[in-house]
Amino acid sequence: MRRFIRKKMTLLVLILLSAQAFSQTENTGIIPVPRQFGTNSNDFVVNKEIRIYTNLKGTEKKNLLFSLKELPFAWKLTRNKIKNDAAFLKQASDSAVYAHDGYALNVSDKRIQLNAATSAGLFYGLQTLRQLIRKNDLYVIQGAEIVDKPRFEYRGLMLDVSRHFYPLAFVKKQIDAMAYYKLNRLHLHLTDAAGWRIEIKKYPRLTSYAAWRPQQNWKKWWNGDRRYVSFDNDSASGGFYTQKEIRELVKYAAERHVTIIPEIEMPAHSEETMAAYPFLSCPNVKFRNGDVCAGKDSTYEFFENVLEEVLKLFPSEYIHIGGDEAGKTAWKNCPYCKARMEKEKLTTFNDLQACFIGRIANYLHLKGRKMIGWDEITEGQIPGDAVIMSWRGEQGALNALKNGNQAIMTPGEFCYLDAYQDAPLTQPEAIGGYLPLEKVYSYNPLEVVPTLQQNMIRGVQANLWTEYVPTPEHAEYMIWPRLLALSEVAWSEPGQKSWPDFHRRALSAVGFLKAKGYHTFDLCNETGNRQNAQHPVNHKAVGKKVFYAGKYSDAYPAGGETALTDGLCGGWSYNDKRWQGFIGPKRLEVVVDLDSIQQISAIQVCFLQSTGAEVYLPSGIEYSISEDGEHFTKLYSEDNAVNTSEGIKYHDADWKGSAKGRYVKVKAIASPQFGGWVFTDEIRIN
Ligand code: ACM
Ligand code: ZN
Repeated sequence: MRRFIRKKMTLLVLILLSAQAFSQTENTGIIPVPRQFGTNSNDFVVNKEIRIYTNLKGTEKKNLLFSLKELPFAWKLTRNKIKNDAAFLKQASDSAVYAHDGYALNVSDKRIQLNAATSAGLFYGLQTLRQLIRKNDLYVIQGAEIVDKPRFEYRGLMLDVSRHFYPLAFVKKQIDAMAYYKLNRLHLHLTDAAGWRIEIKKYPRLTSYAAWRPQQNWKKWWNGDRRYVSFDNDSASGGFYTQKEIRELVKYAAERHVTIIPEIEMPAHSEETMAAYPFLSCPNVKFRNGDVCAGKDSTYEFFENVLEEVLKLFPSEYIHIGGDEAGKTAWKNCPYCKARMEKEKLTTFNDLQACFIGRIANYLHLKGRKMIGWDEITEGQIPGDAVIMSWRGEQGALNALKNGNQAIMTPGEFCYLDAYQDAPLTQPEAIGGYLPLEKVYSYNPLEVVPTLQQNMIRGVQANLWTEYVPTPEHAEYMIWPRLLALSEVAWSEPGQKSWPDFHRRALSAVGFLKAKGYHTFDLCNETGNRQNAQHPVNHKAVGKKVFYAGKYSDAYPAGGETALTDGLCGGWSYNDKRWQGFIGPKRLEVVVDLDSIQQISAIQVCFLQSTGAEVYLPSGIEYSISEDGEHFTKLYSEDNAVNTSEGIKYHDADWKGSAKGRYVKVKAIASPQFGGWVFTDEIRIN
């Protein structure tokens, strides 16, 4: 449990020899940007061992000592307040400054003073101090006056260690950097179809069997036979954390003011659980199914027994139980599920899921803990004290708030680090989407939240799902630097944020992280968005009316009826709200009305392939022209064989020539072999 220490604490750092003033030239590189920040020209030069006085005691003092070890220069603790400074402040009386793990830090040429009300506040002040240190001939700490506190209490990262398993040392390394950037929650997605990753003594087959696959790479495994093997099989790939390792990790994180929140998925995403313990399944399921039986008492007993061990390992106030993406199909033909619905007077399968979640919430409540669930748990009765993690946009959070529940924002559009962070063709294969640093940075978790409910948003989290992330190095690459942006979203007030300034600081932070051995994305060589997406394009059809023979999909309308002639082109991703998607029988057949008969010399339409989203290049494309809108003359056609090994592709179908007319027709037909979507962004006519 997090402990909030009410008394104020003071950490004072003094240098005994007079320090020389050092004129300030550089601006700060602190991430996340502090709430109030001023520099002075009185840098503190470390030319002797620093003496440190603190009024902390006991464990707090021990933890402080431990954080001080991160300082690169020599220091020692003194018992006595150092006398030779007049302006020695022990405690500030203005408690608002220190609320919510805030701190005040002053650095001048003679003294460094750090005040906070909680040990977490002191810790964050120390992280800021670390970021003020430069190395010239000597270590120099930038003269500064800072008053700071976090915008949100919950500042998180979710790491999926099921789809690919990563060693403990890797997780610790991420915690080190998270703490340095003032993030304080690590949510571990410990169980999913791809592998169970935590030792549960009562159910040993979860880790002797359900933690191992004959195929290391998730994609190959998922697209293959999805088997598990015994841990001692020669082909076994995977792993799990022992309870001893979990204890070690929880302690390691706590020392850095990071709380680990375990996620034990239920009732869906549980293929591996049922593979180890088949009694958890509804009977006679003949199709691929990830949902455990929500009818049998033995299912509930199983999860309660698992949670009993989990609670002993994780002191976190909140325990994540998943709750997302239940297909519920197996429940429909299950006598146990039917019996439960009758007994509990439930009418829908959503109610059955809510009944499942409610029972687990009760269990956690009795144990003095609270539940976190993905936003699907708002689709039925929401347990009173559950916190909702809103991932399918922000509606789940809004539903939760209306019901009086708290929420954490983690919408896919801004927070899913499994998306490409740069031009897909320059990047290792990702699940899809495009989430560059700037987009993460642009997120404001309160933007859509009514003012009176804003205090119910506990915070914000970035999620790294790892289906396409087979190695620890790759995971690190996906996390950094995007987690830096999330850190500033979570900690700093919107008024403090500035993208150009953050970008500059992030470039420098990437250098720092690289020097520390982190495999970050190479931000200084970022390609950026697709060229056409960055500026509107001008052409003869801009603003002209488009007639649709078959409507675009409501799921991907882009700019609606004006999307194909608004001068705005799509970016790297099918879901950037600029690509218009077609799934109807005609796929794409549109006519652009140029308003008058005109001479034209070029037609260019771009099509997208994004196989992960079942978007394929059309197998046929045709342009034709007409003066009267009835009689069309063909100008151009092309046939393409769809190549699905090209995961992401952008194809311009270009016609150049000379023609006259008022109406231009564009047709694109889907591949008869693959079907799927046709996506296009703009019909450029010149
Ligand atoms: C999720 O991405 N299924 C929570
Ligand atoms: Zn059942």
